[in-house]
Amino acid sequence: MRTAEVLVTLAVFGFCCLTFANSLRCYSCTSTKDCKKPSKLECNSDAANKTRDYLNLLYTGVPGTNFTSLSFVCVRDWLKTSSNEFTYKGCAYSNYQSCSYPVNPYYSQHHERKCAQCNRDVCNPAARANGSLLTVITTIVATVVVKSVWRNCIF
Ligand SMILES: *[C@@H]1O[C@H](CO)[C@@H](O)[C@H](O)[C@H]1NC(C)=O
Ligand SMILES: *[C@@H]1O[C@H](CO)[C@@H](O)[C@H](O)[C@H]1NC(C)=O
Ligand SMILES: *[C@@H]1O[C@H](CO)[C@@H](O)[C@H](O)[C@H]1NC(C)=O
Repeated sequence: MRTAEVLVTLAVFGFCCLTFANSLRCYSCTSTKDCKKPSKLECNSDAANKTRDYLNLLYTGVPGTNFTSLSFVCVRDWLKTSSNEFTYKGCAYSNYQSCSYPVNPYYSQHHERKCAQCNRDVCNPAARANGSLLTVITTIVATVVVKSVWRNCIF
């Protein structure tokens, strides 16, 4: 019992340290086909630069190369136009608002877009259907974990 408690505390503590050390990992892929089976990537400026290049291709008002950050977020983006479908997942600089940039007029005639930016490890999977029971269980588990993280991280 004691041992179990110690182990849980250590695990949670380790999780805290990892999270706050900001070694964020995100799903990464660059095409609709790739994104069916995305790889995982540890964020760094190289990855964030790639996302900047991707965003620049499709959107306007994306910040320039003098706008960077030491911390990162995960991004997933899907843009469907009358002639093309673009899917992308990756890391971005945390000061980006990746989903807020307007679609390049070249593509904007008929388009649908789904985009999300988030800051937890591999938080950018495909949007998937939600079983309500699963959602409830996940919420409960998440609440317990968050509470315990909170207790152990904030002394
Ligand atoms: C990413 O872009 C910045 C400029 O915004 C540059 O200074 C940096 O070297 C680039 N990083 C990599 C790994 O290419
Ligand atoms: C970044 O570059 C843009 C033009 O590329 C410039 O207008 C802006 O002042 C620069 N910002 C900084 C912080 O240097
Ligand atoms: C998940 O369920 C909620 C409410 O039941 C619904 O509004 C939402 O669209 C669902 N999300 C997906 C991805 O199916």
